[in-house]
Amino acid sequence: MKIRIVYGSSTGNTEAAARHLTQLMPGSELLEVSNAQTADFEGCDLLVLGTSTWGLGELQHDWDAALENLRGARLQGSAVALFGLGDQASYPSTFVDGLRPLGDAASEAGARLIGRWPADDYDFQDSAALDGEQLIGLALDEENQSDMSRARLQRWAEQLLNELR
Ligand SMILES: Cc1cc2nc3c(=O)[nH]c(=O)nc-3n(C[C@H](O)[C@H](O)[C@H](O)COP(=O)(O)O)c2cc1C
Repeated sequence: MKIRIVYGSSTGNTEAAARHLTQLMPGSELLEVSNAQTADFEGCDLLVLGTSTWGLGELQHDWDAALENLRGARLQGSAVALFGLGDQASYPSTFVDGLRPLGDAASEAGARLIGRWPADDYDFQDSAALDGEQLIGLALDEENQSDMSRARLQRWAEQLLNELR
C-alpha cells in the first residue's frame, strides 16, 4: 500500500507529528510540502496532509504555493486524510482552521476525505475545520495537550488503516 505524508511546518511541531506518523504507518513516505510537485499528490492509496495554523486561521505558509497544485492533482476517488496542529487556548475561534483549505482543495480534486475526528476532548469556541460535531481531520495541540498527541496519533493511524479496508 502506498502512503505518502506531506506536511508544512514553521516551528517543527507538524513535522514531528508527521515523523511519528511514518513510524506508525510502516512503509509510508514523508515529504515536506516545499518539495512537493503535483505528481507527488497523485497515485497514492492514502495521501496524508498536515499543516499548522498561523495568523488568525491561516494555512502554514509553505502550503500557499502548493495549494493550487493540490487542487489540480488527479485525486478522483483517492483517500486523503488531514491532520492539523493548533493552539486552542490562544486561538479558540480559529483552532486548526488550516485544515479547511486543505480539505477543500483535496475535495475539489475529487478526493474522498477520511479520518474525521471527534471534537469532544478539546476546549475551543469555533473552527473552520468543524463539520457538524466532527473535525474534518485530526487536531493536535502541542501547547496545551502535548501529552495526548501520542495516543491521538496512534488511534488515528489505526482508524485510517481501518477506513481503507
Ligand atoms: C503568531 C501565531 C499565530 C497562530 N495562529 C493560530 C491559529 O489561528 N489557530 C490555531 O489553532 N493555532 C495558531 N497558532 C498555533 C500554532 O499553529 C501551533 O503553535 C503549532 O503547533 C505550530 O506548528 P508548526 O511548528 O508545525 O508550524 C499560532 C501560533 C502563533 C505563534
